[in-house]
Amino acid sequence: MNNYILNNGVLIPEIGFGTWQTPDGDTAIEAVKTALQAGYRHIDTALIYRNEQSVGKAIRESGIARKDIFVTSKLWNKARGYDTALKAFEISLKNLGMDYLDLYLIHWPANAKQFDDWEKINANSWKALEKLYAEGLVKAIGVSNFLTEHLKALEKTATILPMVNQIEFHPGYMQTETVAYCKNNNILVEAWSPLGTGKMLENETLKKIAGSYKVSVAQLCIRWILQKGHLPLPKSVTPERIKQNLEVFNFTILEKDIKTIDNLPYIGGSGLHPNEIDF
Ligand code: A2P
Repeated sequence: MNNYILNNGVLIPEIGFGTWQTPDGDTAIEAVKTALQAGYRHIDTALIYRNEQSVGKAIRESGIARKDIFVTSKLWNKARGYDTALKAFEISLKNLGMDYLDLYLIHWPANAKQFDDWEKINANSWKALEKLYAEGLVKAIGVSNFLTEHLKALEKTATILPMVNQIEFHPGYMQTETVAYCKNNNILVEAWSPLGTGKMLENETLKKIAGSYKVSVAQLCIRWILQKGHLPLPKSVTPERIKQNLEVFNFTILEKDIKTIDNLPYIGGSGLHPNEIDF
């Protein structure tokens, strides 16, 4: 598998294995092991997914060297702020049984609807991530679910710019403004729920296009994201699907089909939105 290169020079495998909604315990352990056997070398988790321990166990038991696997986790909302973020990072490391992470993200921005001092809260969390980065405890740092306004605010006090913004992105939900901002600022866009948490799979237009390439709608969505220069994070707990979602390198979507997918009507996201959310 190829890598993207982050704005600090770190390589990141171009497809990651998503683990949101993957139940902790045997299911997560088996899913991650299957993914590693299938060839994934990039696993995306978060403290709030409550499966970090299983992810860590699966990685250790896979027999693949830690240095050959790219591992991401995320700072949960309850731990925003400087000291709390540092503590939360330690907990994630301990859960995963690791002594460093490849990427650590602020999971959701503190937003203006929730907090008057949302800018300061995000700035403090970011300062903690910068410290972890400077100490070498994490190879890259970034954010998740940040809209342009959150990124612009963060940049006012940041000494290091985010390397990644992980957002919901799939056909029918392209977050054009945020993506354009990230592209212009050299921030890699990672796509969570690349299949729209499964809801894109029955889309008739996608089915028709996928059929013409003899691939599944899931493969079409993943390939479309790669051709747009973003990093898809498909989730599955089903061995055949886990494997299938990596088999996206033996076809290329023609420009006319890319356009048709780009122009699908707005379908909307999962309902989780940075300025609505109040966990
Ligand atoms: P499961 O985990 O039961 O295999 P997303 O990555 O957009 O969040 O989508 C995840 C959902 O899509 C899950 O319900 C997952 O089911 C399903 N899924 C993942 N890959 C495929 C695939 N190749 N074909 C059909 N469904 C898939």
